[in-house]
Amino acid sequence: MEYYLRCIECGKKYEREDIYTCECGGLLEVAINFDSVEIDFRLDSNNLSVWKYRCLLPIKTEPVSLKEGGTPLYHTRLEEELECGIYVKHEGANPSGSFKDRGMTVGVTKAIELGKKAVACASTGNTSASMAMYAAKAGLKAYVLLPAGKVALGKVAQALMHGARVIGIRGNFDEALALVRQISEEEGFYLLNSVNPFRLEGQKTIAYEIVDEIGVPDRVVLPVGNAGNISAIYKGFRELKELGLIDSIPKMTGVQAEGANPIYRAVKCGKEAIDPVMNPETVATAIRIGQPVNARKALRAIYESNGTAVQVSDDEIIQAQKDLAREGIGVEPASAASVAGLRKLMAEGVIERDEVIVCITTGHLLKDPEAVIRACGKPVEVDASLEAIKEVL
Ligand SMILES: Cc1ncc(COP(=O)(O)O)c(C=O)c1O
Ligand SMILES: [Zn+2]
Repeated sequence: MEYYLRCIECGKKYEREDIYTCECGGLLEVAINFDSVEIDFRLDSNNLSVWKYRCLLPIKTEPVSLKEGGTPLYHTRLEEELECGIYVKHEGANPSGSFKDRGMTVGVTKAIELGKKAVACASTGNTSASMAMYAAKAGLKAYVLLPAGKVALGKVAQALMHGARVIGIRGNFDEALALVRQISEEEGFYLLNSVNPFRLEGQKTIAYEIVDEIGVPDRVVLPVGNAGNISAIYKGFRELKELGLIDSIPKMTGVQAEGANPIYRAVKCGKEAIDPVMNPETVATAIRIGQPVNARKALRAIYESNGTAVQVSDDEIIQAQKDLAREGIGVEPASAASVAGLRKLMAEGVIERDEVIVCITTGHLLKDPEAVIRACGKPVEVDASLEAIKEVL
């Protein structure tokens, strides 16, 4: 498969792969020469995984893989509540417990291809957990910058145990990202935030798997933070359409928290660029981001697919988290935003009742145990006797 990097702003093409943005400052994307692609998979809902679609991934060497992708697509009781065909694709079932693994298997493989010895990222948590895991598998050093005190404990635990050098900065995610971009440049680290176009290539396989399993839905709803995933999934659908494998693209629908809502605000005014939110705040720490680096890609994905964006409150997020959990789907708060957003759009009449919708739940419940205790309280504690237990049943 032949490909090159192309600037989404000025169209400039690059053969070299060790860059993240264009000379003009624009974001890059991997442009595939479709004439050079030989499709060697069948959309038969069998053996779903990131690497099933290798012929559409820009990788030349043996993948660094922990068997990512192939995540379950569930029916839920939301279908009765909202009278729609609703599926939940649970990305928390990936090896590190979030969708980031799809990007990291490709991104870390690219790091090896480019001869890099170390990888780095800024993170609201899941990126660092995933990167640390894949770097460990590949034998690379891993450096992580986190907003100190603002990352869910499960994610920090993963990054630490998988051997990353974890540095908390007294600042927010957006500041951490600006710093890690500079440090990576100075130290020669391979940057694995979603500004890296190869990482998004892995994440586009969410679209491939959805089509593989159920065909093209009318809409995909997902939480938006740095806005890489919505851009990646849209690219996946767009590519299948350009290859003639599907003939429509779902409406890409982004959900943000009220306290971290720059994409929502841009879409509300029909703008092509965001105004940053300077002090983002939400219980959904994974999407506590005020200046999404992929905003331009994400806004195009939303407008070109006739999608939309919606904001939800922290209370709505936690309610959706509880509702999913009570039918066996354990997700972290940011992931529940997708369901909260879907409910809101249905209530507002933006979504019609006969649509087929896929909600992406991006990360696992265990990622954020502290949020669970805040939402549910601690377990009751009693004396070790039958009487005491019976009293609290
Ligand atoms: C659980 C979870 N959901 C959603 C997102 C947002 O994804 P993106 O930054 O690609 O918009 C993140 C990002 O960290 C995440 O960890
Ligand atoms: Zn450019």
